[in-house]
Amino acid sequence: MTSILLNIKVRVSRRTRAVLAVMLLALISSSLISLSAQRLEKSGRTKRAVVRPDAADQQAQQRADALLAQMTLAEKIGQLNQLFFFGFQKEEAINEGIRKGEIGSLLFITDPATINRFQKVAITESRLKIPLIFGFDVIHGFHTIFPVPIAMAASWDPRMVEQAQTVAAREARAAGINWTFAPMVDIARDPRWGRIVEGAGEDPYLGAAMSRAQVLGFQGDRIGSPEHLLACVKHLAGYGAAEGGRDYDAANISDAQLWNVYLPPFKAAVDAGAGSVMSAYMDLNDVPATGNRWLLRDVLRRNWKFSGFVVSDANAVSDLKTHGFARDGQDAAVKALTAGVNMEMSLIAGVYLKNLANAVKQKQVSIKEIDDMVRPLLETKIKLGLFENPYADEAKVKSTFDNPAHREAAKAAAERSAVLLKNKNNLLPLSKTAYKKIALIGPLADSRQNMLGSWSFAMDINETSTMLAGLKTKLGNGTEVAFAPGVQINRIVPSIFDMTLKEKHPPAWTEGQAADEFKKAVALAKDSDIAVMVLGENQDMSGEQASRSTLDLPGRQLELLQAVTAAGKPVVLVLITGRPLDITWAEQNVPAILEAWYPGSQAGNAIADLLFGDAVPGGKLPFTWVKSAGQVPFYYSHNLTQNPGEQEKRYWHEKAVPLYPFGYGLSYTTFGFSNLKVFQPEIKIGQTVEVTVDVKNTGLRAGDEVVQLYIHQQAGGASRPVRELKGFERITLAAGETKTVRFKLGPGELRYWNASVRDWVQEAENFDVWVGNDSTASLHSTFRVTQ
Ligand code: NOJ
Repeated sequence: MTSILLNIKVRVSRRTRAVLAVMLLALISSSLISLSAQRLEKSGRTKRAVVRPDAADQQAQQRADALLAQMTLAEKIGQLNQLFFFGFQKEEAINEGIRKGEIGSLLFITDPATINRFQKVAITESRLKIPLIFGFDVIHGFHTIFPVPIAMAASWDPRMVEQAQTVAAREARAAGINWTFAPMVDIARDPRWGRIVEGAGEDPYLGAAMSRAQVLGFQGDRIGSPEHLLACVKHLAGYGAAEGGRDYDAANISDAQLWNVYLPPFKAAVDAGAGSVMSAYMDLNDVPATGNRWLLRDVLRRNWKFSGFVVSDANAVSDLKTHGFARDGQDAAVKALTAGVNMEMSLIAGVYLKNLANAVKQKQVSIKEIDDMVRPLLETKIKLGLFENPYADEAKVKSTFDNPAHREAAKAAAERSAVLLKNKNNLLPLSKTAYKKIALIGPLADSRQNMLGSWSFAMDINETSTMLAGLKTKLGNGTEVAFAPGVQINRIVPSIFDMTLKEKHPPAWTEGQAADEFKKAVALAKDSDIAVMVLGENQDMSGEQASRSTLDLPGRQLELLQAVTAAGKPVVLVLITGRPLDITWAEQNVPAILEAWYPGSQAGNAIADLLFGDAVPGGKLPFTWVKSAGQVPFYYSHNLTQNPGEQEKRYWHEKAVPLYPFGYGLSYTTFGFSNLKVFQPEIKIGQTVEVTVDVKNTGLRAGDEVVQLYIHQQAGGASRPVRELKGFERITLAAGETKTVRFKLGPGELRYWNASVRDWVQEAENFDVWVGNDSTASLHSTFRVTQ
């Protein structure tokens, strides 16, 4: 090592030597850290502990400072600039920008050869050889597609979610991507909003658990873990509360709701070490999130001690002008930068690149402010190991993608995410031998693209198993599986994402064809022993720019369901959705309903396993399933308010109850809860209560139950929700087996943000506690907190 340093001595300047020495130190210490992390893993002591590499942090800081000292203002501003590359722009135009040091990051490239070409320009042709960081929306898989995030949240299995994102990270990293724009942790209490599919639903506690699991999966134990990505928690904050569920519209959220409901999943991601944050598009309480100093500086950096960097959502900096918040491009750049946005993500030319030099000249922004924004970006590139290891190993990509363990993980994830909503007279699981002919009906039953869900771009579509293929593989020649789509479904306003679909929508039927296809499907049901209907929404009906004002089954799907049911054969309804749909008719008339979500590459195989009992559904709803859009917003953790005993009479025309409650989901077996014990009926503020419950599998086969604990603070300095989830565990029980599940309730669970004190408080009050298998759990006890 000394000889390397000596050799370097002869050829390079003192300053460069210093930089190189720090680089070497960082390299050594980062491998030491990874070694010690491996040792910890092997010893099994703290498998999931987040390693906080303070020494590595310090070295990254020093190295970043050394680089900063060499950079021109233009080069610094260049680092703050991120551009989309979709493949149709001229590479040479981008290369020119890279050479001049005008681009710090590119996003949306999934081809490792293209990534390597651009990186080579940065490393060999730019003055300071600062590598680019390549970002991409690795949301639920990369080559192997996992169930959409709302589905993974329905697994209530953070360990599984962490593993899924570990696989996603490995595949994306192999392709040369360093950074994912995930996890998306926006709480969504309005299912009209299309992006509910990308998050964990309505609850901050479940949301925080999923957020943490995803950050650990993407990043590993530290930023720069091999085969991992930098995580980017998004969209700070409140995007899920877009008015009317209309994507991009303003969010108006009370401070109490922000702190107690919308922010906890972000805080969880920051605590888990997320290295970057994306600022949201919309206005939050009239101040655009991307120009919101309070959010990005006071909350994120000062209060939560976040030390990574913030990237804006696409064009969100220049859109500060569109919002009527900034006067012009320069004002937008100044407002975003001083609010705390380090990097501007832009589709064409960013306002940072264009205006910041002028803003410095006009003293609207100081060089120190620019440096403070650039430093964390450089530190992150250093921690990611990009200076030492900038390129994708193209030879390894295929073998990484081909890993059969990835397919198995995706299948297990799809199975664990499914939620059984109804199963009258145990119609499910189906016998593999009882049916000679199965009618598989519905527009989604033989679709590959629509099994995947939004943000699926880099997969090989041919690897997707459809429902039709899955059932055929499962049943072999003994049973005929006959398919009829019955109806077509299509958006009325086309989606911008449709140009990315690898399987295009089939050409629209004429009226005559539509009538024939409908009849054919009904005739098929009559001629079969059972009908499996696969209904829901195409993938482009759920996601960004996919909001709706009703929750009906799109098109003529309900009519088809009614006609097929009238054919008199048993009907199983499999739902492909990313949101609750209005399925009240189905709940009343169809014996079995399985919510399969967008299950991913292994869709057909996983659903076939579930339908025929080779897998047992154990997922639970991560949101309240409303009867119709008219009930929205409707979430379980509302306040008591007036006449709480008459909660169900809030509407005069129907019961004000949801179709299915939050946390609900059936199994092929049954479970009993008993013996709820609260070990400390009285604790002091700051102490912990322990609660146990016995859960027994009372059925005849093994299955999973999600044991859920809810609390209610009976009085205090604010009205508190009727129930709040504060603990859960997914367990597997053999038939007849009993397990005792233990929960702890400490200050973290018992405190809340009080709008009159304007801070977190824990109060000396009485609490209810319930444990059970959904948010209506009835097993009840109490405890008291005293001063
Ligand atoms: C816009 C979306 O809102 C955001 O979630 C995504 O990460 C970026 N585009 C980049 O694709």
